[in-house]
Amino acid sequence: MININIIFIIFYLAIILSGTIYDHHPRYNPNFQTPISHGLVKNLVKPVLNPVTRVPELNSLDPSSTANFYGDMVNPGLFQYFFSPNNNVSSPGYNIPIPISLPLTLNKDNGTYTFDNQNFFPIDNQGIDVDPSKRLYKDAKGVYHNYHFCLKINSNFLFNGSEMFSFVGDDDFFVFIDNKLVIDLGGVHSAESASVNLNTLGLTKGKVYPIDFFYCERHTSKSTIRFNTNILMTCKFIDYCGVCNGDGTSCCNPQTTCNDNNPCTIDQCPLPYTKINGSISDYCYHHPKELYNPSNKCFTHQCNITTGNIDAFPIPCLDLSKDCLKSKACNTSTGCQYESACTDVCHIENQCINGKCEVKSSDYCAIQLDGDKVDICSVYSCDSSQGGCIKQEKCQQGSNKCIVTSCDSENGNCIVENVPNPNANDSCIISICNPDTGLYSSSPLQCPDRSNEYEKCKRNTTNPCIETSCKASTGECFEIEIPGDMCDCGCDIKNKCMRSHCTKEGKCSPVFIAEIDDGNTCTDDYCDPCTGLITHTTASKCLNCNSC
Ligand SMILES: *[C@@H]1O[C@H](CO)[C@@H](O)[C@H](O)[C@H]1NC(C)=O
Ligand SMILES: *[C@@H]1O[C@H](CO)[C@@H](O)[C@H](O)[C@H]1NC(C)=O
Ligand SMILES: *[C@@H]1O[C@H](CO)[C@@H](O)[C@H](O)[C@H]1NC(C)=O
Ligand SMILES: *[C@@H]1O[C@H](CO)[C@@H](O)[C@H](O)[C@H]1NC(C)=O
Ligand SMILES: *[C@@H]1O[C@H](CO)[C@@H](O)[C@H](O)[C@H]1NC(C)=O
Ligand SMILES: *[C@@H]1O[C@H](CO)[C@@H](O)[C@H](O)[C@H]1NC(C)=O
Ligand SMILES: *[C@@H]1O[C@H](CO)[C@@H](O)[C@H](O)[C@H]1NC(C)=O
Ligand SMILES: *[C@@H]1O[C@H](CO)[C@@H](O)[C@H](O)[C@H]1NC(C)=O
Repeated sequence: MININIIFIIFYLAIILSGTIYDHHPRYNPNFQTPISHGLVKNLVKPVLNPVTRVPELNSLDPSSTANFYGDMVNPGLFQYFFSPNNNVSSPGYNIPIPISLPLTLNKDNGTYTFDNQNFFPIDNQGIDVDPSKRLYKDAKGVYHNYHFCLKINSNFLFNGSEMFSFVGDDDFFVFIDNKLVIDLGGVHSAESASVNLNTLGLTKGKVYPIDFFYCERHTSKSTIRFNTNILMTCKFIDYCGVCNGDGTSCCNPQTTCNDNNPCTIDQCPLPYTKINGSISDYCYHHPKELYNPSNKCFTHQCNITTGNIDAFPIPCLDLSKDCLKSKACNTSTGCQYESACTDVCHIENQCINGKCEVKSSDYCAIQLDGDKVDICSVYSCDSSQGGCIKQEKCQQGSNKCIVTSCDSENGNCIVENVPNPNANDSCIISICNPDTGLYSSSPLQCPDRSNEYEKCKRNTTNPCIETSCKASTGECFEIEIPGDMCDCGCDIKNKCMRSHCTKEGKCSPVFIAEIDDGNTCTDDYCDPCTGLITHTTASKCLNCNSC
């Protein structure tokens, strides 16, 4: 709600100008009651009003600058409190703001308004001087007055094309119109006058402009003020300091009035049109500092109540391991970031059960590798070290090549077989399979030495055609009949045309020696069984023919 008050009422007998008086005291601000008064000085303040604070600023903060020296500005740093509140009684520049209303009376003959007070002591016994011990300053006749104060009036007006403003008085007096300095009567001086014709300022008729007055009484022993104007100032509202269109700064300073001694808050004066019942401080805003920090989603910001620093604390990221997610570097604009923990080639992407990544099963790999042509003689599995799903023969050949493993493609059963022995049916050949090659090596069976046994089987018959011998495999004695044509001789193998030979059945059986046959069909080959002498005589069938 904006409280609309019209302070200047057009052509009324009196108009009331509202402003703020800041009560100062030489004890708090040595720019008041300086030992020497140097009189009027120009250019003490900057020619343009600070549009934010709406109070004048010194051209220089150097006390030895010409303007400050002649303007009796012994402590230029404290000029900032001339027209703005400072309620810290322990600090230099301490002051007390007091609202004031100045009634301007209409001069009927020429339609201008005048404020005239040649004894302008509006705050005697008020402000700092409520304390009797502070009422130290008197006029020549010994009469006490409060001689040290500044007055600020911030207002606006509608420029009608022919306005003027004139002033006469002491001490500092500055008027800004449209934020530009138009009356410049600085310093501690006796009554000085100045006037301004608004037509000369380049203003546009019908437009509203700010007008700001600043007046100070800085020294004994006189205080005079008189101004005359036909400017019609308007107010949209009065702030809680009682200032027309004010912003509250006349009586409220965030650093002093609203200081809650909490470094973690930003102190702010109440909005200008706040209705104050009691102390302004009760209506101040104290914004937590954190709210003013740009949000970084990786950190929370907390103000340290001791230091007032905004400390950053990392925001803990959620434990999403149940969803097989692990957190990765936090992104300041989006916050915690997670990535799948199921990144192994043997994990099924984005499949998580109870915090465990689902692993590619043999069935999964079978379908992945062979689709609908799954091989029953293969074993499918996943091996991350091999790059994922792999397929291996189901019936693996062992290192022993004498045992052959194969798979039955009908039913997938493994068949384990020995390499067939080519001499399996010949017990006189020893065949041994080499496990490295799977090949058989063979060697003839060595008949065991059974000479002792032969001894016992010594000839036991007088029949020269009965041969007594010993069975090699068992050692049993046996007798065989030597065919008549060979058995006449009495030798051990009686027939010298025969040699010992072992049959496939393991029996020793004499056979004819090979040399007997000369391969010539035209000879009769003869061997003498007693001497072993071989003779070849012309065959009888060839005697009469030439066919040989
Ligand atoms: C008041 O001013 C004094 C002196 O400058 C300073 O030490 C103190 O902290 C101020 N107090 C507050 C509440 O600002
Ligand atoms: C208007 O009249 C008053 C009172 O007579 C006088 O002081 C003032 O100077 C006049 N102003 C102008 C602009 O003539
Ligand atoms: C504005 O100026 C015109 C002509 O100069 C005058 O007639 C009128 O009364 C003025 N209005 C105000 C509000 O002064
Ligand atoms: C101001 O506050 C007092 C005390 O809290 C209360 O009695 C009074 O009604 C209030 N006045 C207004 C105008 O709210
Ligand atoms: C606040 O800052 C002080 C000084 O650096 C430190 O000792 C203290 O631990 C901080 N407090 C917190 C809550 O961080
Ligand atoms: C953070 O996230 C935003 C939005 O997704 C992206 O544009 C930006 O590149 C990310 N920053 C980093 C450092 O990853
Ligand atoms: C061994 O004898 C059996 C039965 O007589 C026969 O089936 C098999 O083929 C023979 N093996 C070899 C290697 O001669
Ligand atoms: C010899 O023959 C006799 C009678 O036939 C027999 O009793 C004896 O055991 C035989 N001796 C040998 C060494 O075979």
